[in-house]
Amino acid sequence: MRLRIRAATRLKGTMPVPGDKSLSHRALLFGALADGISDLKGWLPAADCEATLRCVRALGIHVERPAWEHLIVHGGGLKGFRPAPAPLDCGGSGTTMRLLMGMLAGFPFPSTLVGNPQLSRRPMERVARPLRQMGAEVITTEGHAPVYVRGGSLQGIRYELPMASAQVKSAILLAGLYADRPTMVIEPAPSRDHTERLLGAMGASIRRDGNAVTIEPAERLRPVSMTIPGDPSSAAFLIAAALLVPGSWVQIPGVLLNPTRLGWVDAWQAMGAPIRAIPEGEAGGEPVGHLQATAASCLQAIEIAGAMVPRMIDEFPIFAVVATQAEGITQVRDAAELRVKESDRIAAIAAELRRMGARIEEHPDGFTVYGPTPLRGAVVHSHGDHRLAMALTVAGLIADGETLVEDAACIADSFPGFVETMQALGAEIEVETVYE
Ligand code: S3P
Repeated sequence: MRLRIRAATRLKGTMPVPGDKSLSHRALLFGALADGISDLKGWLPAADCEATLRCVRALGIHVERPAWEHLIVHGGGLKGFRPAPAPLDCGGSGTTMRLLMGMLAGFPFPSTLVGNPQLSRRPMERVARPLRQMGAEVITTEGHAPVYVRGGSLQGIRYELPMASAQVKSAILLAGLYADRPTMVIEPAPSRDHTERLLGAMGASIRRDGNAVTIEPAERLRPVSMTIPGDPSSAAFLIAAALLVPGSWVQIPGVLLNPTRLGWVDAWQAMGAPIRAIPEGEAGGEPVGHLQATAASCLQAIEIAGAMVPRMIDEFPIFAVVATQAEGITQVRDAAELRVKESDRIAAIAAELRRMGARIEEHPDGFTVYGPTPLRGAVVHSHGDHRLAMALTVAGLIADGETLVEDAACIADSFPGFVETMQALGAEIEVETVYE
């Protein structure tokens, strides 16, 4: 699939975004191990979360699906998984594979986790290592998937994470539910804390002290019923489009407003962007509210490094697009993790934005953007990465002439309905089917 994008004149409207990806994975996975029924509305029916659903069912958990975005999970209790009849297929989803590795470390039977070629290039030793220290048998394929896990009696550990990764943290905390004593994970900087919040809401004993999170072994988890709020990482594309296209006004209701996910809002506000986050309530221990933005009259360059990086780790492709329109030199540092996402996001965004006329330099742990530069329409490639595809689509809205985003079907990994949402706001985007 290819997207053909023309420059937009203005984007206007109130549009929701689909459910948060991180929460959709977690509510389903943790609900599977709860004592009783979890009712999940607003669940994200995107390819990554479908992989989690496939795996949970393969592990013997009964999940009803009365509607596409509504799951009823019949939790089997903390000992409720059964050996899967075949390798667990995590598709392209790192969250599915890494969180399941932690959960399966609590079970005495062997499991094999496999992924598609993209996921099979991503590092898995970062999860395997601490799980082995806890006593699980974990074998990776030269550091990658396929991954073999055979769990059993686990010991609680104190583990200093070498990188700020919510997936690795979550895997260790989940294994900690099955350990013989408390497990402590120390992060170099806070990463998204959905696992801590949701396990806490489900009755687990879990506490944070500075950068250390400690979980106690558990006997049971309470089920959780919630409407999963909209994904702020999806909202970021709509907000960026509103900032960049003159005359725009966009509002997104019901978005997850967890501060560990909103570094990009803080960054763009510091650059002078008129964005507002208006809290309204709570779901599953998480703050929820509206996001609003109007077109920015002037954006200033900014430097991003250190603890800010994990708070906007998924938003760097779209952040780079916004930076091309800011006055001055925007610098991103301490973000080497971007090289092991769905694509090497530093190399990929630099290469593709350069085709559109951006002045952007790559560094081992980040990039530098010289702005503002007018963008020109070009043929660009997603690198099979959903967030690249959507960022380049937004770039196309402010480019002179037509932009073609090749290999855009991957958008369905996290944001089904992205094109329709942008069209409803007034963007001119055509979807073209490509026959190979
Ligand atoms: C996620 C954590 C982040 C993020 C990913 C989702 C999660 O990955 O990039 O999209 O749901 O825990 P890392 O843990 O590798 O930083």
